[in-house]
Amino acid sequence: SWTMKGFIGEAVEAIRKQVGEEGRVICGLSGGVDSSVAALLLHRAIGPRLQCIFVDNGVLRQGEREQVEALFVDRFHVPLKTVDARERFLSKLAGVTDPEQKRKIIGREFIAVFEEASRDVQDAGFLAQGTLYPDVIESVSWKGPSVTIKSHHNVGGLPEQMKLKLVEPLRELFKDEVRALGRELGLPDEMVSRQPFPGPGLAIRVLGEVNEKRLDLVRRADTIVQEEIHKAGLYKEVWQAFAVLLPVQSVGVMGDERTYESTCVLRAVTSVDGMTADWARIPFPILEKISSRITNEVRGINRVVYDISSKPPATIEWE
Ligand code: XMP
Repeated sequence: SWTMKGFIGEAVEAIRKQVGEEGRVICGLSGGVDSSVAALLLHRAIGPRLQCIFVDNGVLRQGEREQVEALFVDRFHVPLKTVDARERFLSKLAGVTDPEQKRKIIGREFIAVFEEASRDVQDAGFLAQGTLYPDVIESVSWKGPSVTIKSHHNVGGLPEQMKLKLVEPLRELFKDEVRALGRELGLPDEMVSRQPFPGPGLAIRVLGEVNEKRLDLVRRADTIVQEEIHKAGLYKEVWQAFAVLLPVQSVGVMGDERTYESTCVLRAVTSVDGMTADWARIPFPILEKISSRITNEVRGINRVVYDISSKPPATIEWE
């Protein structure tokens, strides 16, 4: 019968067979579950012949890069190269407000940065991706082209240009199986049960212009949302919970002063697969805590609103 240990053994064998005795594999780490599990499986199969690459695109959440480094380098001793491409992405995003344009820019830059970083990896013959079965059968569709290189239709010309062969050890698995596999491989629970985070990152959660200042506002608000949702024990119950910064200012009052500052949306939804979603009935005291913390702790946001739209007709993200 099918067991996770059995699967690991077979997958390791299959990887070794495909890659051979000397082949080296490049794997893009995104900080999400799929690429993390793929990387650990690869590492188990070929050890130091795996080279992971993590691109800091400047639109990551608080502490994301540090978490990835702590987990893969310090804990699992996986060869990891972090590319700090923040300036490059942010300068390309400057002045851009159209959501599809943001996605395109981030997708294009990612491929360019990833390709450059891969060139430094001597003798790499393979590219590993955390493609899942639903990606293979194309049941997932987004509003635009994805920036991740995880699903086959997102790969574009990448492996061809780079002359790398694809290694996709998760392509027969569903998400829950990937999570179980991750646990078996020793991935900590907070990684295995992570909520989805879009490839274009905070760029599509800052409505309007993306710049350091506005990213900082949404990042700090988001950190508070994550903390409070965790503290309330709701992290696994909701599909996604996050903050969105609107290009809207409104009047407020602080002390004796009139303020005119930004508005932040709290978005929290329940869902089975992201295709449809309902707004989460977060208890009022938790909404209150999140709102008061954001308006007190994040200077520049003086109003928090709760999104009570379901998908359809709204989408989970605002862009
Ligand atoms: P929507 O907003 O379309 O999102 O209801 C459905 C799910 O997909 C995620 N999402 C994306 N993921 N690249 C990604 O990798 C994208 O461009 C993208 N757009 C949306 C979203 O977070 C939700 O989980």
